Amino acid sequence: MLMKLRIIKDSNPIMKKKSIPVELPLSKEDKETLDAMLEYLKLSQDEDYSAKHNIRPGIGMAAIQIGLLKRMFVIYYGEGDDLVQYQLVNPKIIEYSVRRCALKDGEGCLSVDDEHKGYAHRYYKIKMQAYDALTDRDVTITARGFDAIVLQHEYDHLDGLFFYDRIDKNKPNTQLMNEELI
Ligand code: NI
Repeated sequence: MLMKLRIIKDSNPIMKKKSIPVELPLSKEDKETLDAMLEYLKLSQDEDYSAKHNIRPGIGMAAIQIGLLKRMFVIYYGEGDDLVQYQLVNPKIIEYSVRRCALKDGEGCLSVDDEHKGYAHRYYKIKMQAYDALTDRDVTITARGFDAIVLQHEYDHLDGLFFYDRIDKNKPNTQLMNEELI
């Protein structure tokens, strides 16, 4: 049965809280939550479904976005051999590149309705360790460019941060020295 999820918006103060580590092995309840979150993303990318239910397409979702202060998030985008999907629990970023990057058209978020223009500065390459509930494995993910941005965006939610917190308010459209726009 599909759990009904309600997405919390950034105006809710809970979104600014730091989420708490999840107990492992994962409980059945936490696994069901992650399954429901992943299912939501899949359905949100179906044009008919998203139009009918008036929801926006999403490629990532952190537990805090449904009101749970737990350090876990899901990701789903791409297709075929390029499909990227995870249910990451207790992720840690263990390496950051010197090189930076940002999305030239800016980032979006299921919890953010207002427009925030500017470059959200990210690391071009990161290494992340986590337990992946989708494959039931501990994983070390090396991600670059867009993939790295998505992971950093979701990871930030666990610390109560939004993509617009990464935009320089005084110079929103200024590229960093070592930053690539993608
Ligand atoms: Ni988000």
